[in-house]
Amino acid sequence: MSRFCLLVYLLLFWAVLDKGFLVESLGVNWGTMATHKLPPKVVVQMLKDNGITKVKLFDADQSTMSALAGTDIEVMVAIPNDQLAAMGSYDRAKQWVRRNVTRYNFNGGVNIKYVAVGNEPFLTSYNNSFLNTTFPALQNIQNALNEAGLGNSIKATVPLNADVYGSPANNPVPSAGRFRTDIMDQMSQIVQFLNQNKAPFTVNIYPFLSLYANEHFPVDYAFFDGVSNPIVDNGIPYTNVFDANFDTLVSSLKALGYGDMTIIVGEVGWPTDGDTNANINFALRFYRGLLPKLAGNRGTPIRPGYIEVYLFGLIDEDLKSIAPGNFERHWGIFRYDGQPKFPMDLTGQQLDKYLVGAQNVKYQPKKWCRLRPGAKDLSKLGENINFACTFADCTALGYGSSCNGLDANGNASFAFNMYFQVQNQRDLSCNFQGLAEVTGENISQANCNFTIQIEATSSSSKLSQASLAIFLAAFVVAPLL
Ligand SMILES: *[C@@H]1O[C@H](CO)[C@@H](O)[C@H](O)[C@H]1NC(C)=O
Ligand SMILES: *[C@@H]1O[C@H](CO)[C@@H](O)[C@H](O)[C@H]1NC(C)=O
Ligand SMILES: *[C@@H]1O[C@H](CO)[C@@H](O)[C@H](O)[C@H]1NC(C)=O
Ligand SMILES: *[C@@H]1O[C@H](CO)[C@@H](O)[C@H](O)[C@H]1NC(C)=O
Ligand SMILES: *[C@@H]1O[C@H](CO)[C@@H](O)[C@H](O)[C@H]1NC(C)=O
Ligand SMILES: *[C@@H]1O[C@H](CO)[C@@H](O)[C@H](O)[C@H]1NC(C)=O
Repeated sequence: MSRFCLLVYLLLFWAVLDKGFLVESLGVNWGTMATHKLPPKVVVQMLKDNGITKVKLFDADQSTMSALAGTDIEVMVAIPNDQLAAMGSYDRAKQWVRRNVTRYNFNGGVNIKYVAVGNEPFLTSYNNSFLNTTFPALQNIQNALNEAGLGNSIKATVPLNADVYGSPANNPVPSAGRFRTDIMDQMSQIVQFLNQNKAPFTVNIYPFLSLYANEHFPVDYAFFDGVSNPIVDNGIPYTNVFDANFDTLVSSLKALGYGDMTIIVGEVGWPTDGDTNANINFALRFYRGLLPKLAGNRGTPIRPGYIEVYLFGLIDEDLKSIAPGNFERHWGIFRYDGQPKFPMDLTGQQLDKYLVGAQNVKYQPKKWCRLRPGAKDLSKLGENINFACTFADCTALGYGSSCNGLDANGNASFAFNMYFQVQNQRDLSCNFQGLAEVTGENISQANCNFTIQIEATSSSSKLSQASLAIFLAAFVVAPLL
């Protein structure tokens, strides 16, 4: 090898190493609000197979933690909002830390880096429910970590929605960013406390929601491939809402005197179904812009450099509340069964390849439930579809979604099938007052997949039994009324 070749080789090698390192900086959110969960060990293997080395949880579930034990994966465990009030007691907070952090802190245990105290507790739609309990919980948890001797390596933080700050309507630029006045006291206490403990500020940023919330929002601005009319702020052009939003937070922190505070993006992503803007093409476009940006450590105009980011989310969750919108159940970079939805290159090199899916997934038999051809009395169809969709996920049927093009019979079959699958294909669950039948024929249509569920884990079959009981109650009792 000539000296020149060696140099080129070393440079290439270094570039590869560099990329390899960059993959490791990406995290994902692992939510588990699904009727059929993949076994935690299968999910952890999937994280490893894709070089994902950080994971953010929404609780500290024991089976999840056991699966993560012995790996190097960095973990953010969480305290749900409904436990914030309880954490106002220091004894209770110490107990939580003992049970859910200290317990895993041994060689071969779980590599916990953060405790998320609450999840978007100041969301305006929560009507101040957690206004007075968030800061005391944060204090108690970090103090308990400190007392346990873990404070240097494990930080408590509060993942907040980007609606905790904004710019005034008459000066809508990032540099004018301030925290919301109604939560200013809480925010300044929290930020001061985070700073004292060298803990990061965690924010969830959703360009999709900017688009969803405002029909006049310029679509291109939600992505990263440039716009013709950037927002110019003190001479800085902003070409995407992610940067503008992030820098609005930097300015809000600066206004409180903490302009240098570390910021983690706790959630960012794009859903693939459940809305006109939630589809594979847009998700692909979003990640094709976001991932190279992150891998290149480009940061934002006023905060260039590395940003710690957790994608939302890992796997679709068919039990999530759809109060915010039908898209809520479709945020996964993987489908419900752990299979990748679209090409996605976490190294940010835009290689046209798919992530490694979950291995050895066990599916239920190839059986579907459909509207019985020739079913006569259709007067009860509506109530039966309603019933199915109350206990199973029919969000793909809605306006702008993948199955919106079905005809009325197709709608009924789709709903019946989703229910049948959620019920683990129990015979009774494909009846619908005689309107339905089981078929071995794959009744999927063009863009609309009639799915087969995966095999149930023990926790999901409990749920099935509960809703089966309700099913029986509803249909046995109804005629008596
Ligand atoms: C530990 O976390 C789990 C799961 O989030 C929760 O159910 C449990 O109450 C916590 N333990 C304590 C002692 O608070
Ligand atoms: C918040 O208040 C609105 C209007 O009063 C109500 O409809 C909604 O259910 C409340 N939300 C919560 C989480 O309490
Ligand atoms: C929070 O505390 C303030 C001040 O003590 C009080 O006025 C307010 O009602 C409390 N809010 C809630 C939702 O508990
Ligand atoms: C199918 O269901 C969806 C969602 O409920 C509805 O918007 C659509 O109009 C239905 N289609 C027909 C043909 O009934
Ligand atoms: C059913 O057919 C669809 C569309 O052809 C296909 O994508 C899907 O994999 C099939 N499902 C099963 C379980 O074979
Ligand atoms: C449809 O769902 C089946 C599982 O029921 C899966 O094997 C298949 O890959 C899916 N097809 C598409 C196009 O999503």
